[in-house]
Amino acid sequence: MIEPRAQMNNVSMYSPGKPVEELKRELGLDHVIKMASNENPYGFSPMAKEAMMEEMKNVHYYPEITAPVLADKLSRNLEVPANTLIFGNGSDEIIRMITRTYLNVGEEAVMASVTFPRYKTNVVIEGGKPVNIPMKEGTHDLQAMKKAITSKTKIVFVCNPNNPTGTIVGEEELLQFLESIPSDVLVILDEAYYEYVHTDDYLQSINYLDQFPNLIILRTFSKIYGLASVRVGYGIMASDIVQEILKGKDPFNVNRLAQAAAWAAIGDKEFMTMTKQKNEEGRLYLESNFSRLGLSYFPSHTNFVMVDVAQNAEEVYNRLLEKGIIVRPGHLMGYSTMIRVTIGKQEENEQFIQALEQVLEK
Ligand SMILES: Cc1ncc(COP(=O)(O)O)c(C=O)c1O
Repeated sequence: MIEPRAQMNNVSMYSPGKPVEELKRELGLDHVIKMASNENPYGFSPMAKEAMMEEMKNVHYYPEITAPVLADKLSRNLEVPANTLIFGNGSDEIIRMITRTYLNVGEEAVMASVTFPRYKTNVVIEGGKPVNIPMKEGTHDLQAMKKAITSKTKIVFVCNPNNPTGTIVGEEELLQFLESIPSDVLVILDEAYYEYVHTDDYLQSINYLDQFPNLIILRTFSKIYGLASVRVGYGIMASDIVQEILKGKDPFNVNRLAQAAAWAAIGDKEFMTMTKQKNEEGRLYLESNFSRLGLSYFPSHTNFVMVDVAQNAEEVYNRLLEKGIIVRPGHLMGYSTMIRVTIGKQEENEQFIQALEQVLEK
């Protein structure tokens, strides 16, 4: 056998939410609801669809490598210079590009335990060392994360809102944290669920890019824009960091259809507002039913909720599967009695609650 790099012994393939097609095949079910991967149940903007259809005629040409037309529109939308933006094949790719560009073998990356698993995977692949800091009630413990910073620390990841718990850290606390981080440590603020946040006590991090040249903000078109399989994410950061990352970037990482779709999606405020409002209604519906059932949950600022079912999460997950409902079991993330459920359409939320009630009664 050809030996892979030693680091590969310490990583495993990403485990996604179970696909609908797979469950239908396995259990012979006609009707399956997937509430497992924080996708947008309302689809995506019709304007993005039209833009992709229009762009289809050009797919035999490589796309522009830095997506300048998309960058121009997004820069005006966010009110940041276009040279502070970088696009990736999902924000997943940007995480990889950052660790590849900046992490030396043996350097440390501080992150919460539990948070988005791709941070750890990419750090380990580059030969870095993940330093996992336990959370407090499902929320980043920024004090403890700060204390964990040593001369070996190169990166700190803050997932805000956090996946899988849905929680955020408050504005003041995050600002003080940023002020306390040495300027030679990169802070990656992953805001994949930014648009769902429903409080003012949340740092508008873009306004602090000049003050903190070591800050990188990550966002995505996969969640509220509903373009998960098209694969476009973006980072906002000092232009000199962009220039470093571009040196190693795969040239044609964001394809033509993706660039066109994201460009058009930015302009469809109506779709975003509708998604946000319906998601909010769904969240309140789920939360009120969890309370009725005596179940506690982490306060979520996302399109998912992590709820404590007070029973073995794997068993509850499997019984929900039998009823055609796919969620994410918490035992794989270190929460043995919790499940993470993506907020669906109202009828999906109702079917989920009904099924959960039956499963928990057994
Ligand atoms: C916190 C967080 N960051 C990044 C991503 C990656 O998103 P994408 O690569 O689709 O942009 C996800 C996806 O679920 C996520 O939850």
